[in-house]
Amino acid sequence: MPIRTASAASTAEPGTKNRASALHKVRYAVRHPQRVPRYVRRLARDLRLRVSTRDHIAYYRAVMRDDTARNPEAAVGSASHERWLALGEMQYDYLLRHGLRPDDRLLDIGCGNLRAGWRFIDYLDAGHYHGIDISPDILLAAQEVVAGRGLQAKLPLLSLVRDLRLAALPEAHFTVVHAHSVFSHSPREVIDECLAHVGRVLAPGGYFDFTFNRTEGSEHHVLREDFYYRTANLVRLAADHGLAARFMDDWEELPHRQSKIRVTHGDVHSDEAA
Ligand SMILES: C[S@@+](CC[C@H](N)C(=O)[O-])C[C@H]1O[C@@H](n2cnc3c(N)ncnc32)[C@H](O)[C@@H]1O
Repeated sequence: MPIRTASAASTAEPGTKNRASALHKVRYAVRHPQRVPRYVRRLARDLRLRVSTRDHIAYYRAVMRDDTARNPEAAVGSASHERWLALGEMQYDYLLRHGLRPDDRLLDIGCGNLRAGWRFIDYLDAGHYHGIDISPDILLAAQEVVAGRGLQAKLPLLSLVRDLRLAALPEAHFTVVHAHSVFSHSPREVIDECLAHVGRVLAPGGYFDFTFNRTEGSEHHVLREDFYYRTANLVRLAADHGLAARFMDDWEELPHRQSKIRVTHGDVHSDEAA
């Protein structure tokens, strides 16, 4: 099967570099000395949390607690409020271009503090948005966004989860499942768990879009916070669970570092799969 990795227009140039290697770290520190103190702080936190948490979810929940206490918008990866707004708009506009309708039922996995979620809630019919997250702290911040934007009447559901088995969610219900910047922070077993269960909650004809950090070299992670995957491996993982996956070329045209894969029930033509 030919594996297409990206269009020529890609802005998310993945390369083969391994950000976890000592050589990369030294070179990076020389090029960006101002970022060294932040990296050292993250390293110290990683060491502390590594001994005090039992698994990845507990670890990442603690990371989110720490980050959210400082600034919820920064905790979901936005350096400023303007970036928070822009990143949410990018996700929202993309799904609109792909035909999102008010009567779609959307599951937002790792919804954070509703950077995109508030726009989906506003657009969708009441009760059609369900956000889930492992972090109680960011879900409290999400509730503030719902209240601050006057979206109470849209009845958004916001649920705390401890895993991605999606066990409490109804079968064949969601026409759109969305996970932005979640698998970029997830080890393979978390992605595997999600792909093993998402087919159950996905409505016939529905799709699951997720973003990921793409590498064309070896898969690796940095401080268990940022994970890098090869497209073909994620496509294969989806296939292992009876799902078809394809690389979304049009997402590459947007100014975003991550790439996007769309997963659906069943097979796609082999020349589309990558
Ligand atoms: C970088 S933020 C992105 C939030 C949101 N999707 C957005 O684009 O603004 C990642 C979010 O995913 C959540 N998260 C990470 N791993 C998760 C998991 N295994 N299941 C559910 N949520 C997860 C984090 O708590 C955090 O809120």
